[in-house]
Amino acid sequence: MPNGSTGPQEKTPHQLYEHLAQLDSGYTLDACTQYAAWIHEIHEMKRRHNAVILAHNYQRPEIFEVADVIGDSLELARQSKQVASDVVVFCGVHFMAETAKIVNPERMVLLPDLQAGCSLAESITGEALADRKEELRQVYPDLQVVCYVNTTADVKAESDVCCTSSNAIQVVEALDTENILFVPDENLARYVQNETSKNIIAWQGNCYVHHQITPEQIQEVRDKLPQVKVLVHPECREDVLALADAVLSTSAMMRYAKESPAQEFLIVTECGLSDRLLLEVPEKKFYKSCKLCAYMKMITLEGVRDSLRDGRFEITLPEETRIGAQRSLDRMLALNA
Ligand code: 13P
Ligand code: SF4
Repeated sequence: MPNGSTGPQEKTPHQLYEHLAQLDSGYTLDACTQYAAWIHEIHEMKRRHNAVILAHNYQRPEIFEVADVIGDSLELARQSKQVASDVVVFCGVHFMAETAKIVNPERMVLLPDLQAGCSLAESITGEALADRKEELRQVYPDLQVVCYVNTTADVKAESDVCCTSSNAIQVVEALDTENILFVPDENLARYVQNETSKNIIAWQGNCYVHHQITPEQIQEVRDKLPQVKVLVHPECREDVLALADAVLSTSAMMRYAKESPAQEFLIVTECGLSDRLLLEVPEKKFYKSCKLCAYMKMITLEGVRDSLRDGRFEITLPEETRIGAQRSLDRMLALNA
C-alpha cells in the first residue's frame, strides 16, 4: 500500500498465506487463518469506533494489512495532524504515539503495548537536557536545541525544534544560529555535522538496533555482491555510513528502491523495512541486515484487536508538556523541511 493511502482490501486466509509466505516459513496456512480472523475483527471495530490505524515501516507485515497509513516518522507525524477519526491506534513505539497525541489533543490515541519503547528515546530526559542546555549556554549564548523525533514529550518541550531522519540537515540549516545541541542520537548528529558548517554538539545516545551493525558486515556483502546498492539509515555508525551508496530515512529507502534502475539492494536498517520492500517490489532483490527492533515487534494483530476492543492503552500528557512539545513539532512542520 502506498504511503498515505486508505487501508488495504481484506484478504482471504489463502490470499494472506500466499502473500506472507513469500517472506518466511513462519507464515503457515494455520497462522494466516488466525491472522485473517483478527484482521476481519479489526476492520469491523475500526468502522464501529471511527478509528484510524497508523503504522511505522518497521511493523510486522501482517500489521500492514490493517493500516490506513504506513510511513516513516515524518510522514506519520504529518498524517497524525490530518486524521479526521475519533480514535488513532498507533502501531509503532511509544514516542510515535505520543507525537500523535501532541498534535491531536482532542482525539483518543492508543498504543497496543505500553512496553513498546525505544532505546534512543530512553537515553535522555527533559531534566538532563535542561541541565546540559544551561551548561552549554555559558559557552555558546546562541545555542539552540534540535531534538530527534525519537524523544519523549518532555524532551521535545525542552527543545527549540524537532527533526526526523529525513529532514535533520535541512532543519539544522534553517536555524539562525551557529551552535546546536543535537539530541539524542550521536550517529545522526555526526552525519549532520559532516553535512553542515555549523557546530553540532552531540548527545551520547544511540539506537541499539542500528548501532550494532558493523562495517565488516557491510563489506562482506559488498565483496560477494558488488552489484548491490547499499542503502543505510543515518542512525548507523559513521564507518557504516561511509560504505553507503545512499543514506536515507525508511520511506526514502522505499522510494529510492522503487525508482532506481538498480535491481539489487542491501537494506541496512531494521528488518521490517526489507519485508515491506520484498512485498511491494517483488520484481527486485532485497538483502536484509536481519536486525530486529524488539520494541517495534511488540505490536501484534491480537494486541491491536484488544486495543480497539478495550480502548487501551490510552496516551495522555500533562497539557503544559504537550503544548511545549507541540511548539517544537510545529516549528519543524512549518519549516517544511
Ligand atoms: P524513520 O524516521 O526513518 O522512519 O526512522 C525511525 C526510527 O525509529 C528509526 O529507527
Ligand atoms: Fe528506537 Fe531503534 Fe527501535 Fe527505532 S529501531 S524504535 S530508534 S530502538
